[in-house]
Amino acid sequence: MCGIVGYCGSRRVVPVILEGLRRLEYRGYDSAGIVYLQDGKLIKHRSEGKLSRLEAIIGDAIIAPAHIGLGHTRWATHGAPTTANAHPHSDCSGNLVVIHNGIIENYHSLREELKDKGHIFTSQTDTEVLAHLIEEYLENDLVAAVKKAIARVEGSYALGVLWAGMPDALVAVRNQSPLVLGVSEHEGTFLASDIPALLPYTKEVIFMDDMELAILKADGHQIFSLVTGLPVEKKVTTIDWNPAMAEKAGFKHFMLKEIFEEPQAITNTVSGRINPETGEVVLPEIGLTAADLADIDRIFLVACGTSWHAALVAKYWIEKYANIPVEVDIASEFRYRHLLINKRVLTISISQSGETADTLAGIRIAKEMGAKIITICNVVGSTMTREAHGTVYTHAGPEIGVASTKAFVSQLAALFLFTLYLAQKKQTISRELGLELGQELIGIAGVVERELPRLQKEIEHLIESYYDCRDFLFVGRSLNYPIALEGALKLKEISYIHAEGYASGELKHGPIALIDKDMPVLALVPQDEVYQKSISNVEEIKARQGRIILIGTEGDSHLRTITDDVIYLPKVHSAMNPILYTIPAQLLAYAIATKRGCDVDQPRNLAKSVTVE
Ligand code: G6P
Repeated sequence: MCGIVGYCGSRRVVPVILEGLRRLEYRGYDSAGIVYLQDGKLIKHRSEGKLSRLEAIIGDAIIAPAHIGLGHTRWATHGAPTTANAHPHSDCSGNLVVIHNGIIENYHSLREELKDKGHIFTSQTDTEVLAHLIEEYLENDLVAAVKKAIARVEGSYALGVLWAGMPDALVAVRNQSPLVLGVSEHEGTFLASDIPALLPYTKEVIFMDDMELAILKADGHQIFSLVTGLPVEKKVTTIDWNPAMAEKAGFKHFMLKEIFEEPQAITNTVSGRINPETGEVVLPEIGLTAADLADIDRIFLVACGTSWHAALVAKYWIEKYANIPVEVDIASEFRYRHLLINKRVLTISISQSGETADTLAGIRIAKEMGAKIITICNVVGSTMTREAHGTVYTHAGPEIGVASTKAFVSQLAALFLFTLYLAQKKQTISRELGLELGQELIGIAGVVERELPRLQKEIEHLIESYYDCRDFLFVGRSLNYPIALEGALKLKEISYIHAEGYASGELKHGPIALIDKDMPVLALVPQDEVYQKSISNVEEIKARQGRIILIGTEGDSHLRTITDDVIYLPKVHSAMNPILYTIPAQLLAYAIATKRGCDVDQPRNLAKSVTVE
């Protein structure tokens, strides 16, 4: 939610900021803005809409001889997505600007107080109070004024501040919204909400923690704790992503590129962690001792959105193979319910970004209640990975498309690895089964890779008679029920078609009333343990003249007697079906959305990283 970029150094600042914003646009694209200091004056450009509109406004200023500045791409919370509400926001003098990601919860009372003191507001945002509050405390020391302002503020914030009176430095503060510094001896110092913005310039990064303030200068930086007031020594982390990983590489959209990267993402997640000869799983960063493992009597999986669907699949796996009861929670519900957690409850967050506000709050609560925390995460050094006792990284590489694809299948791979790890440690599966399942997991990337090109072609053809539908149902049973939910989510988020996912057996408890020729149903019907039941449900749809797309097992000729629209997938071990059956569901959503002319990488109203509640 909102992307922040800052830079001071030897390069011209405007292109650096624009490139950074381009790489963070997945965080929000309601408006964009930039500010830089030139000849002692702050020059600001802002525009509603996407970054391309800001770039058009900036024109020749791209070559401005300026070397310090800030930029922002917005996902609107308070105030409509207009130019007036676009960041940066200024104080009354126009000499101080602020960019912000987060929510200032007490902004209303602060705004009234500041208005009474004569401050004039020009936006409806919560952010603008920060600029005026800092101005109120500013004499000749920006850092002191920012500290005083922060002491008055409640909520979450990643802030960047630039003041014409301190022309060689940016001030940044973090509390509950992500913020990372990029350091480079020759290029200068960078500030960003997320790593992709830094990749063209440096791989050396420093993750700020809550209640820390940073002073960024061209030749270095200092970080202080706002709690103790003392300087903090921070670790520099080297990121092994490269800039090209965050480019489209000839694909029309990031989403399609990322779907085609799924075999590699699965392989990267699995390799080195499983012995192909024995099936034994090693997870060195998991942070669980033998005593911890012996203690676990229940697992909570906490996540949002697509990551929550991965958690739902994992429940089936863990309960079946590791014999431990699992509860799956949507993080925004988990954090506000009466939790019965103690040290025997292992709590696992699943998150691509490692920054989702509700998921983070969920693991913090569980940690306080004594639970061990593990996070399954894609971003090295993200807040969740720093707060958890242990981590299983997904190694999918940067995911830029707002609709999660390769991160989801890598989460599934990581969760299956984790299941095997638990089952082996607790000896709930035989060596033979461990080896068989391990080899299935290792092999699934190759199957996906082989099938992808064919599936893409078939699905492009198939959607011709479906792309203009208004509604869609996705159904599946058992392990494939969460994939039905994920298929429906993918379709609605990028094509704006109303879609619902259901457990096949639930159809007759309500949704079957909707079935008619205008309500297509996509059913996942692999030849697995519940195949016959799934087929009966499909027959019930057919009997009511429903239009049906089936995704099932190669060679299952019965499916063709039900409908002409069948997508076949090779037979794999049924435990691997969720990974395999996700692929056509993603491709279907992509094909329909692009056919409808939708912006699949930046769907309306969405943001990739939801860092506010
Ligand atoms: C947003 C994204 C989804 C993502 C969810 C959780 O809604 O649009 O794609 O699944 O956040 O994000 P996380 O980073 O925690 O996996």
